[in-house]
Amino acid sequence: MKNFWNNKKILITGINGFIGGNLCKKLISYGASVTGLIRNKNQKTLLFAEKLDKKVNLIQGNLENKNTLKRILLEQNIEICFHLAAQVEVGIAEKDPFVTWETNVRGTYSLMEAIREQRKKIKAIVIASSDKAYGDYPKNKMPYKEDYELKAKFPYDVSKACADMIARSYASELYNLPVVITRFANIYGPGQANFSALIPDCLKSIIKKQKFMPRGNGNSVRDFIYVDDVVELYLLIAKNLFVFPNRIKGEVFNAGTLRPLKVKDIIKKIFANENKLNQFKKLEKLFKNKKTSGELNYQYMDYKKVYKFFKWRPKTDFNSGISKTIAWYRKNISKIL
Ligand SMILES: NC(=O)c1ccc[n+]([C@@H]2O[C@H](COP(=O)([O-])OP(=O)(O)OC[C@H]3O[C@@H](n4cnc5c(N)ncnc54)[C@H](O)[C@@H]3O)[C@@H](O)[C@H]2O)c1
Repeated sequence: MKNFWNNKKILITGINGFIGGNLCKKLISYGASVTGLIRNKNQKTLLFAEKLDKKVNLIQGNLENKNTLKRILLEQNIEICFHLAAQVEVGIAEKDPFVTWETNVRGTYSLMEAIREQRKKIKAIVIASSDKAYGDYPKNKMPYKEDYELKAKFPYDVSKACADMIARSYASELYNLPVVITRFANIYGPGQANFSALIPDCLKSIIKKQKFMPRGNGNSVRDFIYVDDVVELYLLIAKNLFVFPNRIKGEVFNAGTLRPLKVKDIIKKIFANENKLNQFKKLEKLFKNKKTSGELNYQYMDYKKVYKFFKWRPKTDFNSGISKTIAWYRKNISKIL
């Protein structure tokens, strides 16, 4: 793996985000030449917290600007692109969907057009879709399968489904671009600065001794996958796409742990890790009858297809992943909050 990445010219959109920062860290350690698109100079991120910004080529610009993207691709001779930039906050998407459509939909077709118009150099394009793109399926249809119809209904979910379909159209016989789409379960780990997401929100409240209240009644079922496992899979997919484009071009890959947990059990595990089970019991009484809307009941994934193609399976169980995550937040939270 290491030899392959040495000196490869990589573009990461969303490098200043949670997954982008973790991916960038690994690529730097493998000797890749990483360029990142950043929208603004927000330094409360993993990229700056771990001083990765000094080791990459950062270009400020908006994902929706096709000309900026074209210039980056040309000037940096990009060979592999990971498209991770997105408006990911579900609450923002619900209150003001416009920005979410602009970033997630316009942003994706702007990037795909920039690539199409100068496709000579690009050998692999990995597009981050999401399990949310599938929308609502009953419990007996879980885990989601890659050939399920995308039935997203809520704004963030729809924006990811649109980006997903747009990206796939560029892999079709019409344009033949080397594109792969990933639909991963919820991801957690060091550096996630979206404090409206369950795990960062819960950890912040514990570390800062603040009140915590989950969005729903804790009965939704979710699958959480550790970010190092995701980074490993992204690298495997991109490498395979680069080396054997005809084998995986246009493929969609799910990945999860196949170990779904109720949200209340995730919260309980976090509180237990901190020896705060009594506090959890009091909290549970406050949220167990809460009513919610805009939330799906069941979402989880397996890793059958990625195992078949890449022999990949998640290595980190939730207990060890959450311990590493808590340790990182304890040390670094002031750098991202
Ligand atoms: N975190 C998860 O649980 C999860 C699960 C499945 C899929 N995904 C997908 O993975 C990708 C990365 O997620 P993340 O958790 O790292 O999100 P994040 O919010 O931490 O990172 C997204 C980055 O995109 C940037 N961005 C947003 N709008 C932009 C614009 N117009 N121009 C340029 N940059 C812009 C943001 O500044 C941010 O740095 C997203 O596409 C997300 O939908 C995430």
